[in-house]
Amino acid sequence: MIAVEVQAAKHSYRALIGAGLSASAGHAIKDVLSPAQCAVISDTNVAPRFGDQLQKSLTAAGYQPKLITVPAGEESKTLDQAGDICEQMLASGLDRGSFVIGLGGGMIGDLSGFAAAIFERKIPHVQVPTTLLAMVDSSIGGKTGVNARAGKNLIGAYHPPVLVLDDIDVLKTLPRRELNQGFAEIIKHAVIADAEMFRQLEDVDPDDVDFAPLIRRNIEMKSRVVEADEHERKGERALLNLGHTIGHAIERASDYRDILHGEAVSFGMAAACQISMKKVGLPKKDRDRIVDLLRKFGLPTQLPKDYPRDKIFDALKFDKKFSRGEVRFVVTPKIGSAKLSREVTMVDLRSAIETL
Ligand SMILES: NC(=O)c1ccc[n+]([C@@H]2O[C@H](COP(=O)([O-])OP(=O)(O)OC[C@H]3O[C@@H](n4cnc5c(N)ncnc54)[C@H](O)[C@@H]3O)[C@@H](O)[C@H]2O)c1
Ligand SMILES: [Zn+2]
Repeated sequence: MIAVEVQAAKHSYRALIGAGLSASAGHAIKDVLSPAQCAVISDTNVAPRFGDQLQKSLTAAGYQPKLITVPAGEESKTLDQAGDICEQMLASGLDRGSFVIGLGGGMIGDLSGFAAAIFERKIPHVQVPTTLLAMVDSSIGGKTGVNARAGKNLIGAYHPPVLVLDDIDVLKTLPRRELNQGFAEIIKHAVIADAEMFRQLEDVDPDDVDFAPLIRRNIEMKSRVVEADEHERKGERALLNLGHTIGHAIERASDYRDILHGEAVSFGMAAACQISMKKVGLPKKDRDRIVDLLRKFGLPTQLPKDYPRDKIFDALKFDKKFSRGEVRFVVTPKIGSAKLSREVTMVDLRSAIETL
């Protein structure tokens, strides 16, 4: 088992990585939380697979778990659903001394963490991520929240977990497309700050990945960035948005249908490479290596010919920061480094999107 210490503003927490960890979750949680009632929040894909095992382990360690299952899918990440979860927790007798475990992908991590942040004015949260994306990205950093009608993740709270348990065995049942979108964020981390990891990924066989060390390296990378700028005030944390400005616009243009977040980010990174070549001298050779690596992990970098690109431009205009001309766009001058640029214009974005 691998342990990584993550420093948040008010406390530090551990991310434990290993095979079969959820079977001994109760034991691991005992190091940070004394026996109490707890809510295990999960979704309809994950709960039937891993819910029982986790609850048994909790009960054996002296906890009283209450399983709350919500429908799988981003549609469940709402204020209504968070409220309903809190009502169910109250009805089951949970109180200020209780805690919440999120068992699932990033959707469940965000929703359960937000419920923990508002229940009785905040109770502890344990993350048990079950997607690669959640292990390397969303479970680290303390951002929790739900979607609003006006946009994604607009209602939320900073609520870092007290423990993260990454059981790599659960990745065996994750559909390939879901696994691949986790690689989009991993490749993003490598491009931003880890040229060595980038080279390692170029040598990896996508069908035979040694997940534990890879997850560790990504948690270390993300937590370094988050530690430097937890509340996204100084700029470091904004670097994690590489590929996300255009990625989010593509998600909006597609009405969040038929395209996964990581896939949209893959398009966004391909476009950001184009812009980086023009603005900060990213060598063409580096751009080609980035695009090749994305493709190797089954990620798209070329939109269908007939894709309505105008919808992407419209979605970008919807981004208010753009209309005020104060965009700080993440560019990469070479693999392993990134910075914010104020010199990227709508015209640059347009021509980059046209190359997709
Ligand atoms: N808080 C943050 O910092 C942060 C960062 C990035 C993304 N996010 C959020 O994360 C969410 C996306 O995360 P995601 O991609 O994990 O989505 P997800 O939680 O919706 O999971 C994707 C799908 O995989 C299924 N699934 C999960 N684990 C499984 C397993 N082991 N086996 C089989 N099926 C499984 C889920 O039921 C779902 O259908 C978005 O809501 C996004 O906003 C948050
Ligand atoms: Zn992302």
